[in-house]
Amino acid sequence: MPDKDTGSPFAPEGTRKRPQVKRKRWAIAGCIAAVLVALGVGFNVWHATPQFCNAICHQPMDSYVEGYLESEQPIMAAHREANVRCLDCHPATLKEQVAEATSWMRGDFKVDDRGNLVDQGISFDYKKCTSGGCHDFEDIASSTRDWGGQKGVNPHFSHQYYGGEDSGEVLAGSMGAYAMDCSYCHSSHGTSQMWCNGCHDFKTPDGWENPAASRR
Ligand code: HEC
Ligand code: HEC
Ligand code: HEC
Repeated sequence: MPDKDTGSPFAPEGTRKRPQVKRKRWAIAGCIAAVLVALGVGFNVWHATPQFCNAICHQPMDSYVEGYLESEQPIMAAHREANVRCLDCHPATLKEQVAEATSWMRGDFKVDDRGNLVDQGISFDYKKCTSGGCHDFEDIASSTRDWGGQKGVNPHFSHQYYGGEDSGEVLAGSMGAYAMDCSYCHSSHGTSQMWCNGCHDFKTPDGWENPAASRR
């Protein structure tokens, strides 16, 4: 008889303890979940900082991060001052991360004779630079009208176009020309080049490479 007390409502050892154990388990699970969430949030905050990029991948990220943080290269400085961060330009899509990780493992950063990275998966086009209201292409094009004082010359508006998969849209009044990839001339991290001068000899902005010079 006394042995059967556990089942009685007056000696409810087992029945009363159970819910307590359950509550404890839930509390532990809740704690773990909270910690994971906190880590996740912390990770995302860290991930969004420039410093995340070279925390592991010193090579080749150091130069990009240091360049971003310190460089007076005009494009980098302008974007830094506007608080445009690595991930604003390089969204952390799986494709992008795999591409960067692959380049990283290959250590393959050769540049071609036009100054472009040969094995680079990244080239910024009209859509990319004008998205989110970042740049107004019509304004840009009018800012370089009659470039170098030469009537009809405009690096942003010419017979040249980029016909690849990433090409921009046909611009109103552009005689069917497409916006060229901005990266043909502008380098976010490196030295920009006056690409047209592969054939012409137009004015080259200070600090830019001039392909015409190498032809002389
Ligand atoms: C063929 C070369 C070339 C291409 C391609 C090119 N640019 Fe330019 N861009 C220039 C030159 C040259 C300047 C003048 C720079 C200077 O005066 O220092 C300029 C200036 C600019 C400026 C500064 C204009 C201002 O108002 O001060 C912006 C912004 C710009 N470009 C954005 C773009 C974007 C976005 C694209 C792609 C859609 C692009 N560029 C494509 C050559 C080019
Ligand atoms: C304003 C947009 C912008 C910002 C901000 C920016 N990048 Fe870039 N990044 C580019 C463009 C455009 C290229 C293509 C090459 C170039 O223009 O120099 C590039 C190229 C790269 C490449 C070479 C990728 C390849 O496939 O070869 C790396 C790595 C890189 N960026 C890392 C970074 C890191 C790290 C930061 C932050 C510290 C950063 N970028 C900030 C626009 C940006
Ligand atoms: C692959 C070579 C090549 C490239 C690159 C090139 N052009 Fe041309 N361009 C030509 C040729 C060829 C002509 C016709 C030459 C002529 O009529 O004297 C021409 C003619 C022109 C003309 C009218 C004639 C003149 O010289 O005033 C303009 C303006 C012009 N190009 C601007 C540009 C601009 C801006 C760029 C860069 C966005 C560019 N071109 C890139 C080959 C090129």
